[in-house]
Amino acid sequence: MRKPKITVIGAGNVGATAAQRLAEGHLGDIVLVDVVDGVPQGKALDLVQAAPVVHHDGMLVGTNGYDATAGSDVIVMTAGLARKPGMSRDDLRDANAAIVADCVSRAVRKSRDSIIVMVTNPLDVMCEVARRASGFPRERVIGMAGVLDAARMRAFIAMELGVSSESVFALVLGGHGDSMVPVPRYTTVSGVPLPELLPAERIDAIVQRTAKGGGEIVQLLKTGSAYYAPAAGVYEMVESMVRDRKRILPCSVYLQGEFGLKDVFVGVPARLGANGMEGVFELKLTAEERARLHASARDVAEQAAKLPADLGKA
Ligand code: NAI
Ligand code: 2OP
Repeated sequence: MRKPKITVIGAGNVGATAAQRLAEGHLGDIVLVDVVDGVPQGKALDLVQAAPVVHHDGMLVGTNGYDATAGSDVIVMTAGLARKPGMSRDDLRDANAAIVADCVSRAVRKSRDSIIVMVTNPLDVMCEVARRASGFPRERVIGMAGVLDAARMRAFIAMELGVSSESVFALVLGGHGDSMVPVPRYTTVSGVPLPELLPAERIDAIVQRTAKGGGEIVQLLKTGSAYYAPAAGVYEMVESMVRDRKRILPCSVYLQGEFGLKDVFVGVPARLGANGMEGVFELKLTAEERARLHASARDVAEQAAKLPADLGKA
């Protein structure tokens, strides 16, 4: 039986941390790709040398090219520029679109049947770049952000209530940006809806803090953005697909009519299994929640409309 093969493009903070998690989670053989000579090779060797102690036994290689990535089942795309203080995710759009189009088209030439998990920001717009550059169907181009945004909301609720974050479920819809839509009505602690547990002003504070995304981490780090929680989000999505678990996780999906939205990537709950994005889990939203989701999707669509028309196909 063949071991799954996972390529992680970008051996920076998110990529290298994701590679570590994927390896330690025994999800498959891993190829780490980066444009900087020596970095993916050095980080892969470092991870290989950790294996005897932490007990992972997959193949791990680092490279500056794509030959070693051939036949990958999953491609995790993290290459690109990260936010610096004062930058929005959208400031990254044009520079990262060129990087994503180049990396994705080179990677998919070697792995025609792979599933792409996009991470590079601005996330939902970069998903569109990856969709165009790969020519893949929507089932095989999925963005990681909702798991991260929901994890942040879960962590804030757990801190507020003094409970384990494992007992907290949170729902965050929409684009991975300022207009994301945390949904307290569908957020529960051990099955109890959040509005029954906290006063409205506390919920509002948690919603506001969640919607700031990793902004507060960018301010604290000063040299880059979050990577432990993002890498954990990558792991959760890849694990559900590689092990065909069919978990419903919030991720950026190219909607085709669901939630009344079409031809736009936006964060929604989706079932992830061996075939990638196997279905959108359509929830009933109030008129206000739906309006906010549509506003967020409009933001993504406006940014996607500014992408250069000539982003090449594989
Ligand atoms: P980083 O700067 O630590 O790493 C980026 C890596 O990409 C660098 O090692 C760089 O050499 C490499 N790279 C640049 N151009 C490349 C190319 N053409 N081919 C191969 N490698 C290339 O940045 P970090 O923190 O790892 O973030 C990566 C991206 O992920 C950023 O765009 C960031 O905004 C995004 N991000 C997205 C999140 C999400 O929720 N979707 C969460 C956290 C980060
Ligand atoms: C975050 O939310 C920068 O998108 C990244 O931390």
